[in-house]
Amino acid sequence: MKLDALDLPVLEPRPMPGFVETPQIKQLIKRSLIYIEAGFPVHFRGGAGTGKTTLALHIANLVGRPVVLIHGDEDFSSSDLVGASEGYRKKKVVDRFISSVLKVEEDVVKKWVDSRLTIACEYGFTLIYDEFTRSRPEANNVLLSVLQEKLLGFSKGQKDNSPYLKIHPDFTAIFTSNPEEYAGVHKVQDALRDRMITLDLDNFDKETEIAITQAKSDLAREDAVKIVNMVRALREKGLYESSPSVRVCIMIAKSLKVNGGIDYRNKFSRDIVTEILCSQTSRTGDMKNKNQLRTAVKELVRIHFNGKGEN
Ligand SMILES: Nc1ncnc2c1ncn2[C@@H]1O[C@H](COP(=O)(O)OP(=O)(O)OP(=O)(O)O)[C@@H](O)[C@H]1O
Ligand SMILES: [Mg+2]
Repeated sequence: MKLDALDLPVLEPRPMPGFVETPQIKQLIKRSLIYIEAGFPVHFRGGAGTGKTTLALHIANLVGRPVVLIHGDEDFSSSDLVGASEGYRKKKVVDRFISSVLKVEEDVVKKWVDSRLTIACEYGFTLIYDEFTRSRPEANNVLLSVLQEKLLGFSKGQKDNSPYLKIHPDFTAIFTSNPEEYAGVHKVQDALRDRMITLDLDNFDKETEIAITQAKSDLAREDAVKIVNMVRALREKGLYESSPSVRVCIMIAKSLKVNGGIDYRNKFSRDIVTEILCSQTSRTGDMKNKNQLRTAVKELVRIHFNGKGEN
């Protein structure tokens, strides 16, 4: 079957350029692939910027089947997950010989359109359901029988009136979510959590953060080390409203690269670093917190940009 024929955003599995594999990441991948091979869906849970989506995409590529991606959404209903009847179908036909001719054919028959989940279940693709707890729990109920009984149920009138679809044996599901205390995140139903293996991701270890910062920015390793040390020192101080992730290291590194590299004596460089650190770690913009954070950040920037920070 040609993927194009499905007319859905199905991704061909291909290696991710710039994906960093340190011992910590290799271990995560190895365990995840074992769970998947044993027939269990994996679930990466962790704060913003802990690498969940990147890891899910990388593992899906290693599984080697086409990939479908769904992003959790507050407005989803169950039928958004299984598919919908569409009122009419419009077809655009481009005449190959006279390129200016464009024929539009309309077909007003109601047509059942499979969702990404249904496509993945039917053809044995890998489903990545990113941030699945942003959808309401009742919308995700349909997944219970998919993961346990390997059946996708339909209501009357849906998909050729078939009561259910048998899940293809190659179907794999990878989930990601932010912890429940995050804004806009619903609690996972116990029954659903019980059917998947959850791997809790935290900020990467230092070596991994350095490797990712360097790979994403092309800065010299010693510069990536300084940036990572500074961000980790801020984390240890615990003054932030939201914890700085490796994303902050990447933002600083890429911005400094655009600015022509790191010049430790240059105030403009230091201002860039301070601004990004403050912007990414203050959530409410509360001036008292912000001033306290700014003072701490300035001190960290002074220490690490003078090259006196611990390596
Ligand atoms: N193994 C890796 N190799 C290269 N870059 C990585 C790796 N892991 C994470 N990154 C980079 O780190 C950043 C954060 O990763 P990602 O977006 O996957 O985090 P997330 O946990 O999905 O965050 P959020 O909860 O905000 O969606 C991205 O810029 C990503 O490209
Ligand atoms: Mg993500």
